[in-house]
Amino acid sequence: QPDQTHPDDVYSMVIVSNRLPVDYDEQPDGTPGWKTSPGGLVTALEPIMRAADGAWVGWAGVADREFAPFENDGISIVPVPLSEDEIQEYYEGFSNDTLWPLYHDVIAPPTYHREWWDAYVRVNRRFAEAAARAADEGATVWVQDYQLQLVPKMLRETRPDLVIGFFNHIPFPAYGIYSQLPWRRQVIEGLLGADVIGFQRQADAGNFQRAVRRLYGYTTRGAVVEVPEGDDVRRVIARHFPISIDAEGFEQLARRPDVQARAKEIREGLGNPKTVMLGVDRLDYTKGIRHRLKAFGELLRDGRLSVSDASLVQVASPSRERVETYRQLRDEIELTVGRLNGDYSTISHQAIAYLHHGYPREEMAALYLAADVMLVTALRDGMNLVAKEYVASRFDEDGVLVLSEFAGAADELRQSVLVNPHDIEGLKDAMVAAAEMPRKERARRMRALRRRVRDYDVARWSADFLETLTGNATIRPGVRDD
Ligand code: G6P
Repeated sequence: QPDQTHPDDVYSMVIVSNRLPVDYDEQPDGTPGWKTSPGGLVTALEPIMRAADGAWVGWAGVADREFAPFENDGISIVPVPLSEDEIQEYYEGFSNDTLWPLYHDVIAPPTYHREWWDAYVRVNRRFAEAAARAADEGATVWVQDYQLQLVPKMLRETRPDLVIGFFNHIPFPAYGIYSQLPWRRQVIEGLLGADVIGFQRQADAGNFQRAVRRLYGYTTRGAVVEVPEGDDVRRVIARHFPISIDAEGFEQLARRPDVQARAKEIREGLGNPKTVMLGVDRLDYTKGIRHRLKAFGELLRDGRLSVSDASLVQVASPSRERVETYRQLRDEIELTVGRLNGDYSTISHQAIAYLHHGYPREEMAALYLAADVMLVTALRDGMNLVAKEYVASRFDEDGVLVLSEFAGAADELRQSVLVNPHDIEGLKDAMVAAAEMPRKERARRMRALRRRVRDYDVARWSADFLETLTGNATIRPGVRDD
């Protein structure tokens, strides 16, 4: 049972994100409980928050429930309630059926509804108020991701004493796409309330700066956006800070004898094929799962791979299951997997092991160790931490990472086998090349990849961001360090 904290406690560091690191998880018999939430954001921020004495403000993942603040696994949790209507309009609607597809290069068509926008404004205000209540005088508030882009401005208006950071975990699209958004000015204005706005890739920061120039005409110099404020100019920094993982933690996990034994067991369970290929994604249309299955299916059809020497494990964790585009995607993927298994599996070898579940970190590390080829074929992805987790787990300096150019991780992980997932022939060739790559080349590439992931881990990422934030906030007008 989590410990209660006092509802009026204030903190010098406050993280605000739509989803808390834990989701409320009630047993069928009504027993209350909490489980780890899905997605990259939580994966990245959890270790930092455990180290800092801060509070995490966010939603518990269920409708119409109010929870008092409590402590979970060394983190102070401040839940923000959402009603069923707000979940539909702010979360499933505006966040995940307007912004998500728009920011991921309209892979799926975004839907624009004025009611959804109104709910987005309303809910952003509630998060801003909750953050303001939890923040001590002069505290740092770090707002996360596309669901809360209006919070920086709302916070600055009510609490000019705060140091405000924002980090966008997903891509920021080119202006030609962004400009579709009927509320494009309000969103930019919301973000510019922050002292520092962080993006995954340099290209994302560039797209944002361009949108600022086009919509507001403000001057940008390098990473600095000059925001006029009365007679003064407030400097906002907008630049890239590529997010990472707890690389050391993943390596430790992978080195555990029980995890290694489990990796062996996984391979045996698959009938010990020569090559195990692995995909690990939230079940999302941005991840390129269909393209991956198509390529794998054609390789089996053409006899370039056979089920006795190659098997694909696809972990697709459930996500946003009430949003129509996600339902359709699930149906399509499950139809494709069923067909391919029907056509190519034998009694002793399954073509595709499809798992519609999320798994704990231990099981993930075992899967990474068991996989000769890791397939990250996203059509668009802010970073993709799965790619980094795979690399961090491979202390044996083996395994090949096939990585989409359209994932943020491609900027750093240059020694992977880079692919354009839209090019099915190219993807097939890359998969075969990965399966056949000589040991020496695998090791050479993996060593280089590991160096990068170890050097620039999530602790470096947050330290970089927070140093930039403190540095910039001290020179803003009205805030002096004397
Ligand atoms: C991505 C987003 C996060 C989000 C996560 C899970 O990683 O950047 O903001 O929390 O997906 O999605 P969900 O909608 O379940 O929170």
